[in-house]
Amino acid sequence: MSIYDSIGGAPAVKLAVDKFYGRVLNDPQLAPYFAGVSDIDKLKAHQRSFIAAAIGGPEVYRGRDMGAAHARLCITEPDFDKVVVHLVATLTELGVPGEIIADIGGALAPLKADIVGVPAA
Ligand code: HEM
Repeated sequence: MSIYDSIGGAPAVKLAVDKFYGRVLNDPQLAPYFAGVSDIDKLKAHQRSFIAAAIGGPEVYRGRDMGAAHARLCITEPDFDKVVVHLVATLTELGVPGEIIADIGGALAPLKADIVGVPAA
């Protein structure tokens, strides 16, 4: 069974992305990155299809590649890590088992090099 199916498919991904954005946008360390985003709903839709596809769902991601999407943002490594902390906390809160959270983290970790724009201080 795919990770996507084991966590409950599209409704579970939607709930997770909603809760995850709630956390990130309320984090004063991270919110500034999103200040220039005009359409958060579109961003969340892209995020849903990206995550779903990454964990074995049938969704097709039609957004930009990770390097292009994040290049203008100059995201620091600590800020990337904080986003991952929010993702793990969200999935934990939703009752996703630890080993599945670790698998999701493993699927996303290789993207760090494309997303982080400046080396850690
Ligand atoms: C594994 C980690 C991450 C994944 C999988 C991810 C995924 C995505 C996706 C799928 C998009 C949509 C691209 C599009 O619409 O074409 C996006 C955009 C965006 N991401 Fe991330 N992201 C990650 C980490 C981060 C981090 C660490 C930050 C900031 C601290 C961030 C901030 C943003 C912002 C502000 C946008 C909107 C950019 C724009 O519209 O110009 N992301 N991300």
